[in-house]
Amino acid sequence: NLDIETNAEDQLTIGGIEATKLVQQYGTPLNVYDVARIRSQIRKFKKVFEEEQTEYEVSYASKAFSSIAIFQVMSQENMHIDVVSGGELYTALQAHFPASQISFHGNNKSREELSMALENHVGTIIVDNFHELELLQSLLEEQPTTVNIILRVAPGVSAHTHEYDQTGQIDSKFGFDIDSGQADQAFEIVNQNSNLNLIGIHGHIGSQIFESEGFDLEVERLMQLLVHWKKRYDFVSEVLNVGGGFGIQYVGTDNPPAPEELVRQIIQNVRQAAEQNHLPLPAIWIEPGRSLVGPAGYSLYTIGSRKDIPNYQPYVSVDGGMGDNIRPALYQADYSGVVANKVHAPVVENVRISGKYCESGDILIKNQPLPETKPGDIFAILATGAYGYSMASNYNRNPRPAVVFVENDRAQIVIKRETFQDLVNLDSEYFINIGGNY
Ligand code: LLP
Repeated sequence: NLDIETNAEDQLTIGGIEATKLVQQYGTPLNVYDVARIRSQIRKFKKVFEEEQTEYEVSYASKAFSSIAIFQVMSQENMHIDVVSGGELYTALQAHFPASQISFHGNNKSREELSMALENHVGTIIVDNFHELELLQSLLEEQPTTVNIILRVAPGVSAHTHEYDQTGQIDSKFGFDIDSGQADQAFEIVNQNSNLNLIGIHGHIGSQIFESEGFDLEVERLMQLLVHWKKRYDFVSEVLNVGGGFGIQYVGTDNPPAPEELVRQIIQNVRQAAEQNHLPLPAIWIEPGRSLVGPAGYSLYTIGSRKDIPNYQPYVSVDGGMGDNIRPALYQADYSGVVANKVHAPVVENVRISGKYCESGDILIKNQPLPETKPGDIFAILATGAYGYSMASNYNRNPRPAVVFVENDRAQIVIKRETFQDLVNLDSEYFINIGGNY
């Protein structure tokens, strides 16, 4: 089963603090991160690169969880980060994250977003398409500066994972197609503009990947392209960015390799291909999101109502659901959990953990073993740190939860709980036809 810590009273602890204490202080639903665990995974990734003696960058894909506090942690760890929108970029800049360590991604960056990136001197723009190249060229005429770019290509590889999470296959909205010559055409456009400094290529094949085969193929395709560009243009790439996607354990039956071991194999494959083709070894960049923050996150809920139907599995409802974690409804994602105030109490039933949202599909866990529970018990869902809060909504006008970071036996709010007032802050009253004839 998943790694958790409990104390002598059989209470779930997170970074040394009892989950029930956090709940008393901050309420539910509550998202909690064990920051030491994030730092530890960062260091594992970096250690593999050090052991393999490769130039590298580990770039946190911040779409997994973006906030000022997480950017501060990433900055303390001397990480790079990826942002995919003006909003993520703004958040990183508000956190005083060094712009030179930011990569800007996205398949439809607006003129305003690109201008913001240039103005703030982000380290790298990962260019996805021809429209973006045109926007960049026109912006660089108005705001002359030099910018490092990486061309994103579609490596034509499908990772063995849920279809919504596949991005590398040929029929994908992301990146330049290789076989039809789009990548070459992009290279030539970039080559003609001295303000665009091409430092490498990028590929990303999907998310929540457990097998190495997809990465093997990806590296093969990307290295083939670099060999081709060496021959055709005498271009030597400084950087090979292989994207993210390293899978994590959500339930006991998941058995992923350690994310850093997938990376080790990537490094070895790149080295081998470089040697075979007499190319210098490029710096290898990775972009993990889920594997950095997923396992470190917990969602704490209060158990409320239940419904028992003869011959069916009971529903046990909690005070959150698809608004703070859309993944089960959207991807049929599996999670596991524990009753935080009696983790090892004997199991008496298997239930469905349902949320409070007005949809039958709002089931967070389809088959959860539970001890005897009563309203007021605290249910903790594990490994919710990636794409949970970051995909949260105000559906049913439920306020989004608070987020707490725990480290060194101390806890601190890093995103406040939304209030009802927050929910109406952007609303305005309607006046056309009020009091009129309609
Ligand atoms: N790099 C690029 C270009 C990406 O598109 C992504 C994720 C990553 C890196 C990070 O992938 P990770 O290491 O987190 O797997 N909402 C979905 C996942 C969407 C992933 C989008 N791109 C989910 O909850 O499963």
